[in-house]
Amino acid sequence: MRRWHRLRSPAANATNDEGGCKRIAGASPCPTPTAAGQYDLIAELYDGYPGNYLDDVVFFAEEAKRAGSPVLEVGVGTGRLAFCLAGIGIDVVGIDSSAEMLRVLERKRRQVGDLPGRVEAVQADMRSFKLDRRFPLAIVAFRTFLYLLTKADQRKALGAIGRHLQPEGRLIMSFFVPPKELIERGRTEPQEMARFASPGGDGEVVASDWAEFRARGQRVISHIAYEWRDADGEKTRRIERELVARYVYPEEVPPLLEGCGYRVVAAYGGFDRTELTGQEQAPGEQVWVAERVDGDANRRAAENAGRARRGR
Ligand SMILES: C[S@@+](CC[C@H](N)C(=O)[O-])C[C@H]1O[C@@H](n2cnc3c(N)ncnc32)[C@H](O)[C@@H]1O
Repeated sequence: MRRWHRLRSPAANATNDEGGCKRIAGASPCPTPTAAGQYDLIAELYDGYPGNYLDDVVFFAEEAKRAGSPVLEVGVGTGRLAFCLAGIGIDVVGIDSSAEMLRVLERKRRQVGDLPGRVEAVQADMRSFKLDRRFPLAIVAFRTFLYLLTKADQRKALGAIGRHLQPEGRLIMSFFVPPKELIERGRTEPQEMARFASPGGDGEVVASDWAEFRARGQRVISHIAYEWRDADGEKTRRIERELVARYVYPEEVPPLLEGCGYRVVAAYGGFDRTELTGQEQAPGEQVWVAERVDGDANRRAAENAGRARRGR
């Protein structure tokens, strides 16, 4: 028996679905964000941090090569992953709800020039999008699934994605394993995450991050501070941005996928394809590979089996 069938965490059952908002000491006021709005505000800085992430690129490249083109990337953002896949000849169709993230993607497309694969991007919400085509593989990378703040939204998005998959097409989603100790503690300490040249050409940007966890609604609120320094290292400007997401326990995922017309094919505890145990240490990753279950094919197979049993 695969281990993901045995994943358990009592903490997951202790939370409600919609969140609500309880103040905790030192916490910011109750955020009522839209993911598009939050990402619009950091789009120009995203590729410096948090979009400097590289851990998943080889994994998704292997999966995309295996599945074939075009790949659907849900929450394509600035094309961090999409342009890497295009670089090895994979065509990518990306959707994203943030106009500003897509504006950066379009600028990057002009900067990178011709690639062996094509990147197409469409502004759309993953809960309700309709493209007139089906894909062998859909990927929801780098925590994008966590921007669905309710279970109803998770189901809507999985339904919409499923309607864009070919029969037996695959869905791959990756996001972090909720860090038990940090959730109990309620927050992380601020930490410098990246330094990069300011996209505006005005010095260096230092990005630091701390996160707040709220058990109610399984909220994780990332507080990202961007601080500009001039050539002498003097601070010239600072902004703070919040990203509100919903963390997801590994044991929530199989019933969610199965209820939305998928079959779990593999559950990895990292991009090295080790098996997911649910005990991964922060910042452990959960990587889910699922296959669309073709309802019509299943029904036809059951009908045929019934006919065969009745001797017709
Ligand atoms: C963490 S970024 C990931 C971007 C890109 N996939 C990457 O790996 O760098 C999450 C992206 O999901 C998008 N997003 C969040 N909620 C969305 C929704 N409901 N529909 C479409 N895109 C959404 C955000 O605008 C953002 O670009």
